[in-house]
Amino acid sequence: ARPDDPAIVEPAPWSTRLGNPVLTNPYGQPSRFESATIRRQSPGLTQTDEASVSFTPLQSTFGMITPSGLHFERHHQGWVDIDPRQHRLMINGLVDTPMVFTMEDLMRMPSVSRMHFIECGANTALEWGNSAVPTVQYTHGMLSCSEFTGVPLSLLLERAGFDLKRATVLLAEGADGSSMTRTINIENALDDAMVAYGMNGEMLRPEQGYPLRLVVPGAQGVSWVKWLRRIEVGDAPYATKDETIHYVDLMPDGQLRQYTSIQEAKSVITSPSGGQRLMNQGYYNVSGLAWSGRGTVTKVEVSTDGGRHWQTARLEGPVLPKALTRFNFDWTWNGEAALLQSRVTDSTGYIQPSKPELKAVRGTRSIYHNNAIQTWRVMPSGEVENVQLG
Ligand code: MTE
Repeated sequence: ARPDDPAIVEPAPWSTRLGNPVLTNPYGQPSRFESATIRRQSPGLTQTDEASVSFTPLQSTFGMITPSGLHFERHHQGWVDIDPRQHRLMINGLVDTPMVFTMEDLMRMPSVSRMHFIECGANTALEWGNSAVPTVQYTHGMLSCSEFTGVPLSLLLERAGFDLKRATVLLAEGADGSSMTRTINIENALDDAMVAYGMNGEMLRPEQGYPLRLVVPGAQGVSWVKWLRRIEVGDAPYATKDETIHYVDLMPDGQLRQYTSIQEAKSVITSPSGGQRLMNQGYYNVSGLAWSGRGTVTKVEVSTDGGRHWQTARLEGPVLPKALTRFNFDWTWNGEAALLQSRVTDSTGYIQPSKPELKAVRGTRSIYHNNAIQTWRVMPSGEVENVQLG
């Protein structure tokens, strides 16, 4: 803009009169000018709006935390808003004393607060064969990161007195109509899993499982059972419907891999990304997200030439285990076509695979656990599109 731009030299109406009173919105809302920053459903992806998914607009969020109102939703039979006074959590199975907790019981217990990402195992599912959807909201938007507050699951199991010698798994069950039940490894349960009621400083939103959900850091989203009503301690995997028909990985030889629940290291550039347009050549801050279900992000590299050359990006702190990590990279666009990619390394030394590397092992007909490197093509016009190389 020029120094005589009226927007800087003329007094604007809002500079010359009273603003709105306090409590106009007792629960704050985003600016009306941000109405395009919303969760979206992928057109035609699901047959009903109850057994469906809404995607987080990753292209419009900053830092590592996802605002609660933009947290992606994945429901198998629609979401419910449960009266917390009527909600109960039962712990039974291989325990000394089966127990039933009210929300009041749980909220007076010792609590922890931790930042963690949640990613649906089916995130990036449409991209196995070829590039299928235009924006990062649809390619990677079944991903969010929040601060969760709740009771460590290990504490509840101790209270119930579980049989450490026989117990190998837990069954977690939700109270919605989807009969959502998942087998959880006892190691995960005793390590950092929690029964959470808080998210980003407030009670969980109904869409996220109010008043209680399981948080299993690093595990695929389906294990984070919402509206959690029961945990059964068991000695063998339960092989429930959502562990046999769905959430299995179809391998190239036709075999199905089961119980691949950990989300491997993955990263994506969120800006510039598909559907956006660069204005003119010059400086751009390339920004994105990286995460690993096995620990912390140790390095993110960015390529602007489709993976031929890599340069290290800046990691913005805090870099926390099993949480999203924001990275930034200085780029001067020369106006020519470019292929933008990011590649993460995690604390186990694992490096995110390229698409051809992942396809060589997993084939192209799978749904779950696609953690391949994403490519955005910047065209000389400045338009950015989703492409696959090789
Ligand atoms: N828990 C119940 N009870 N019912 C569900 O439909 N969906 C699961 C999981 N927990 C689901 C559930 C799936 S597949 C995912 S990816 C996450 O919740 C999504 O959590 P979110 O909606 O808070 O993003």
